[in-house]
Amino acid sequence: MFAKQLFAKFNYIGLNGKRLLSLSTNYGLVYEEYGDPIQVLKKCDISSKTSRPLKAHEVKVSYLASPVNPADINTIQGVYAVKPQLPAVGGNEGVARVVGIGSDVKAVKEGDRVIPSSSSTGTWRTHAILPEKDLIIIDPDIDVLTAAQLTVNPCTAYRMLKDFIPLTKGDTVIQNGANSAVGVYAIQLAKEWQINTINVIRQRPDFAELKHKLVSLGATHVITEEELRQKDVMDSVFKNIPKPRLALNCVGGKNATDCMRHLDSNGAMVTYGGMSKQPVIIPTGALIFKDQKFFGYWMTRWYRDNTGNNERALMLKYLCSLIKTGKLESPKSVAIGLDEYKDAINKTMAGFAGVKYVFVMKP
Ligand SMILES: NC(=O)c1ccc[n+]([C@@H]2O[C@H](COP(=O)([O-])OP(=O)(O)OC[C@H]3O[C@@H](n4cnc5c(N)ncnc54)[C@H](OP(=O)(O)O)[C@@H]3O)[C@@H](O)[C@H]2O)c1
Repeated sequence: MFAKQLFAKFNYIGLNGKRLLSLSTNYGLVYEEYGDPIQVLKKCDISSKTSRPLKAHEVKVSYLASPVNPADINTIQGVYAVKPQLPAVGGNEGVARVVGIGSDVKAVKEGDRVIPSSSSTGTWRTHAILPEKDLIIIDPDIDVLTAAQLTVNPCTAYRMLKDFIPLTKGDTVIQNGANSAVGVYAIQLAKEWQINTINVIRQRPDFAELKHKLVSLGATHVITEEELRQKDVMDSVFKNIPKPRLALNCVGGKNATDCMRHLDSNGAMVTYGGMSKQPVIIPTGALIFKDQKFFGYWMTRWYRDNTGNNERALMLKYLCSLIKTGKLESPKSVAIGLDEYKDAINKTMAGFAGVKYVFVMKP
């Protein structure tokens, strides 16, 4: 019964999908139940949703690119805090071009480059019809792969560095998962603000190469999870820089606790991800004697709490200015077609991907 409903909503492209595809260039990666993304995602014809006449304040967009983030996978698995109504299109952020506007639309015009302002609109698709209020115009000079990743990871790094502990020139931040997209943006923003970073990554065969890359982006120190526990390594790190006032944690488990041990008294740890799937364990002394603070951060909540104020526009303007002047680059990204979604998702889920996969839609 549900398949029927899905067909009515999105028109499934089955094994003979090529024929259907040739009839429609409007398609998306749709799931009708939560579960393993490889099993539940289907490429579907969505033209019944995107080829209707526009209402007065609606805008039709043609997606150019959309990344595969861990949270997108968790959402499809049904283990994320956001549970879109099913059937749903995968993806949470992306960049699009305006290809049609309703009669009363004032905020955008055809040809504008836009990003969606609300999450879970479903961005792994070629086209969508969205309310004009849900679109933000962005600079067309920013390359498509970077623009597609603007809403989530650079903004998360920016807010975590700004909103929890006042940091000044010469301060230090420690972060794990430092080669993640968020981590890479945090390194570059910290460099711009003259803040030292201690960057913890997992041991890997290409460690030296990755360390070199992160240092070239501005990392002060890059160490493995094992080195973080070695006194001589950490003594040498702290010869030239102060103890961190802020820790950014997207891993959890033992590594998060190891990062805490180096945090300065009165410092703060901000947890924004749980890649190890292990809980965050705080030593009692961190709370009683060091008076350290522990926070969680969720970009989606920040957007909800800051709807309608100017801070979002200021943040995006600032980040775009850094991107345009070459001071902020996106993580190494691989452009991939929507057809190749299984490959992109499998590699993202496996860890040690080393790149961000970004769906690039054919115009
Ligand atoms: N709270 C928020 O608002 C918010 C916003 C953005 C992102 N996030 C979260 O932040 C995390 C990173 O997101 P992203 O898009 O930046 O990720 P990403 O670019 O895909 O990178 C994933 C990172 O996780 C590491 N990792 C994967 N499995 C791990 C494990 N078992 N133990 C330790 N590290 C592991 C990877 O290291 P390897 O290279 O060693 O595999 C890599 O550094 C995710 O949990 C995501 O959901 C949260």
